[in-house]
Amino acid sequence: MKGTFKRTLVTAALPYANGKIHLGHLAGAYLPADIYARYLRSRKREVAFICGSDEHGVPITITAEQEGVTPQAVVDRYHSLNRTAFDRFGMSFDNYSRTSLPLHHETAAGFFRNFLDRGILTEKTEDQLFDEEAGMFLPDRYVEGTCPVCKNPDARGDQCEKCGTFLNPRELIDPRSKISGKKPSVRATTHWYFPLGKYQKRLEEYIRDADKRDGWKQNVLQYCQGWFKEGLQDRAVTRDLDWGVKIPLPGFEKKVLYVWFDAVLGYISGTREWAAREGDPDGWKKFWHDPSTKYVAFIGKDNVVFHCIVFPAMLMAWNDANPGEPFILPENVPANEFLNFESQKFSKSRGWGIDVDEFLDLFPADSLRYALTMILPESRDADFTWREFQARHNNELADILGNFINRTVTFAHRHFEGRVPDGGGSTPAAVLREIGGAGKKAAAAWERYSFKDGMLEVMNLARYANKYFNDAEPWKTVKTDSGAAASTIACCLNLARALAIYIEPVLPFTAKRIWDILRLPGDPSAAGWESASSGLMPAGHPVGSPEIIFTKIENTVIEERMNSLPGATGDGDPAGAAQTPHIALDDFKKVSLRVAKVLAAERVPKSEKLLKIRISLGDSERQVVAGIAKHYEPEALVGRKIVVVANLKPAKLMGEISEGMILAASDESGNLTILTVSEDIVEGSIVK
Ligand code: 2FM
Ligand code: ZN
Repeated sequence: MKGTFKRTLVTAALPYANGKIHLGHLAGAYLPADIYARYLRSRKREVAFICGSDEHGVPITITAEQEGVTPQAVVDRYHSLNRTAFDRFGMSFDNYSRTSLPLHHETAAGFFRNFLDRGILTEKTEDQLFDEEAGMFLPDRYVEGTCPVCKNPDARGDQCEKCGTFLNPRELIDPRSKISGKKPSVRATTHWYFPLGKYQKRLEEYIRDADKRDGWKQNVLQYCQGWFKEGLQDRAVTRDLDWGVKIPLPGFEKKVLYVWFDAVLGYISGTREWAAREGDPDGWKKFWHDPSTKYVAFIGKDNVVFHCIVFPAMLMAWNDANPGEPFILPENVPANEFLNFESQKFSKSRGWGIDVDEFLDLFPADSLRYALTMILPESRDADFTWREFQARHNNELADILGNFINRTVTFAHRHFEGRVPDGGGSTPAAVLREIGGAGKKAAAAWERYSFKDGMLEVMNLARYANKYFNDAEPWKTVKTDSGAAASTIACCLNLARALAIYIEPVLPFTAKRIWDILRLPGDPSAAGWESASSGLMPAGHPVGSPEIIFTKIENTVIEERMNSLPGATGDGDPAGAAQTPHIALDDFKKVSLRVAKVLAAERVPKSEKLLKIRISLGDSERQVVAGIAKHYEPEALVGRKIVVVANLKPAKLMGEISEGMILAASDESGNLTILTVSEDIVEGSIVK
């Protein structure tokens, strides 16, 4: 089927409307999905790009309880905040729906009813955790306790955030109710179960075939293999809650659909809502029922099981029972790994990270889009740092892209009356080849969901454009051979036009700005990808005044951001100790601290900072390399008893192996002292 699809359905995971969208969310699902949808539209493909708020489930009701408001108030607030943040970020959703809409309830309840009527679901009575004080069952995140796999003491009832294991509340060790804090009791309750296991073989075949056609990401395939290896189990699709999609059955008045059962169907109801709004109520059907639609579902890695296994199985079940109107399955689920923020996980409770709206109050959306694109966690976790953001903005957007546009437009104004000069004929074939080649390579990367690689190709065209300008030296030729200068600038203006088209999926605001400077009608996406190397501007076409497109970000601005991080120095707390995030005792216990005796020490050749130090741990000897040469003469260390991290992963520093780290204290004035212990303590002793 590859290459023969008539249209594309693009979905991005529906974020819970219980908190603000942060940069990690953008890098996981939303930015890649938006680049993809924008790219397809520029290629003139028919696209529906659907997202919306996930407004049900325990995450919402817990937030409502914590904030002392109703779940409806929570979802209303965050739906509106997130929709605005997405708009400001330039997300081009065709519809940003909500799962609290009657149309969604009707769609989800319809699936449940259909499954029930066709005998797909089974009813089971099982023991579940119950809070006697609150008088309610405790599904999913209403319970916390110790993870049976990694022993994280704060695992949630549905998943351990630390090791990623999906859990059932009853698997937690020492469970406690999130409502009363008490140990829950156990009571029997009846629920409907979906027989996931029955679909395992077909799911394995589906993923294998889709991977063959469209090349699935290795990480996604591995997650799926892990689930298959464990063997798929029946899953309860109802919960004892009163917030959610009501179960259309007598005796089930106090139960609702499990949030994941209804959330994935939000893609369908969101498409239905969009089509109706567009005045074509049946227009959604071709996106979901026509096998020549390609469906691509963008998500973060924590959602893989629901999109690659649960949702396809639900669609298979529907299709078996309703062969007249089968739904298509995702052709690909390009899940990203996680983005960290300054080396740590984003955490609302610890104030670690930055929300999208807060970020966009400070910096332009395109600068964020660009920096995130270049560090997307496409195959492994990635890290957002303020320093890298600044460097990407200043050294790449401003110095390469912005500089090229500015110098070209400035030259056209200074020497050619603000018009495309008569270049004496067409743009050189070599330049057109370069434009066409960059477009082909970027397109190929984006078609295989490698968004960073695609943008690299586009930036390489901007680099080429700068080099072309430099090599042609129009500031010289304008004095000696004005025809040559005219031809250079005409060509550079057409390169600027091509760049506007190619950057549009990643930098939509900048693309439009360049388009407007070039006084071109409409926008770059409407002009279309293919026109980058063909739709050249004629001689005499007017060009707007030059503008600084990217203002450089000063060090002080970035330092202010860094200093505002919890635990940063510069907040009157030199070691940052007061605000350093808490860690569990188990985390601390992972660090092996031992007393060591220094046997010998010498400078590492050609390094001002490093000493290599031979130490004894009593039962063994090893070498560590430490950056303390400015503070200690090597000989002064010999014989001292110090403290080392003994289980640090060995590393090479200036070619010298280092098998540990020496503990030292430093203050803001740059003083440093290594930690020493009494001579009486034998080397090798454990420090705890
Ligand atoms: O992880 C989340 O934020 C979920 N709300 C994602 C749901 S995606 C889809 F199923 F709606
Ligand atoms: Zn765990």
